[in-house]
Amino acid sequence: MKYVSRALAVLAAALLAASAACAFPAGGSVENSKKGILVVAFGSSMPEGEASIEAVTDAVRKAYPGVETRVAYTSRIITRKIARERGKTVDEPAVALAKMAYEGFTDVAVLSTHIIPGEEYDDLKAVVDGFRVIGATAPKAGFRFIGLSSPLLSGAEDFERLAGVLADSYLERTKKGAFVFVGHGTRHFANAAYGALQFALWGKSHNFFVGTIEGSPSYDDVASGLKTAKVKDVWIAPAMLVAGDHAHNDIAGPEPDSWKSMLEARGYRVTPVLEGLGQNAAVRGLILEKLSEAWGEFKP
Ligand code: CO
Repeated sequence: MKYVSRALAVLAAALLAASAACAFPAGGSVENSKKGILVVAFGSSMPEGEASIEAVTDAVRKAYPGVETRVAYTSRIITRKIARERGKTVDEPAVALAKMAYEGFTDVAVLSTHIIPGEEYDDLKAVVDGFRVIGATAPKAGFRFIGLSSPLLSGAEDFERLAGVLADSYLERTKKGAFVFVGHGTRHFANAAYGALQFALWGKSHNFFVGTIEGSPSYDDVASGLKTAKVKDVWIAPAMLVAGDHAHNDIAGPEPDSWKSMLEARGYRVTPVLEGLGQNAAVRGLILEKLSEAWGEFKP
């Protein structure tokens, strides 16, 4: 792994040097630079979900006041729905980046707001890598620099950091009951991040639990954990960027198969906390750190 990533880093550096040399021949000035940020989210068609993406975007604009910040959604189902219902256009990442290249942006940082480096992130990375190659081979059609931030849970220190921030917000409640975070979950290997987050949170309190809707730990894993915890009160919150469709339906919805209903059927008093991670200021701080890393030496 280490060898491969080092080889890729060398290759990327070579490509960057080549592209910088083409775009800025001897005497080329940094005055020609036009920096931009693209915030990329899966997207949400619910106003409550969009609020979380907007909170992250606002924090980025505050941190980089002189840099134009745009937003792209990766979900075509959501962008089509928003266009149909509200006449609002949100580009997908490749289109947003193509427009920025056409408009003369030279240095661009792409902010991934993904929680884990799963399929969605892999796809985004492929798009960014594509623009990196374009920038190196046809500078006028690409960028001098394009950076991509890593997801919230992608490095060894990330689990402890996020667990610390979540404990700051919710540790008090684990003294009165259990606090359950529900992530999206995936069949992608990156799903392992949820288990790692669970261990990091157990370091804060044994009454913190992590489950997922589509991966592991599962609902059954959380239910058996709660049984051992011998609690009456359970708080339940999404471990997702937004409190959107999954949070309002699968987690806290009135249907008998929502997590809330299933836990209530087992006798717990359940209180949903319908707040996406993007609505937590401290989590936004972690996301901004990732963006800062993505800029590298091109940081504005
Ligand atoms: Co989903």
